[in-house]
Amino acid sequence: MKKVELNQLSKKQIELIEAAIEIRGNAYAPYSNFKVGAALLDELGNIHTGCNIESIDFTLTSHAEMVAIDSMVKSGCRNMKEIAIVLKSSTYSVPCGLCRQKMVEFSTDDVSIICINLDSNEQIQEIYTTSLSELLPYAFNQL
Ligand code: THU
Ligand code: ZN
Repeated sequence: MKKVELNQLSKKQIELIEAAIEIRGNAYAPYSNFKVGAALLDELGNIHTGCNIESIDFTLTSHAEMVAIDSMVKSGCRNMKEIAIVLKSSTYSVPCGLCRQKMVEFSTDDVSIICINLDSNEQIQEIYTTSLSELLPYAFNQL
């Protein structure tokens, strides 16, 4: 995991971050109060976004990354290249294990992951870049 500054990122990566920040505003998280936004870039160059959507029965909760992936799949594409995840955390902000496994399902090459931490004023505090292979080595990917 590498800490980076905004000016080290490409235009497309900044676009992803902006889309993830915007969609985070739609997160429905009345139970955890923990809003997450995600925006991914598919192999065709299209962006798909997602936010977390909670339910009184916590098992029904959709994670932001999963919603973004589902949006890509319903558009007809099954191959993601890069994803930005935005949340407000006291440590770094990484996708959970379930989301990592779902990324394995819908990617062919290693996925680039941009993790954005917001401060208490909802401004970008820290940006980390990593990859799916770093976060989920030896992933289960074959039946
Ligand atoms: N959450 C995500 O949206 N993505 C993750 O990978 C980690 C967790 C959401 C689920 C729940 O609504 C809230 O964050 C707290 O766990
Ligand atoms: Zn998750």
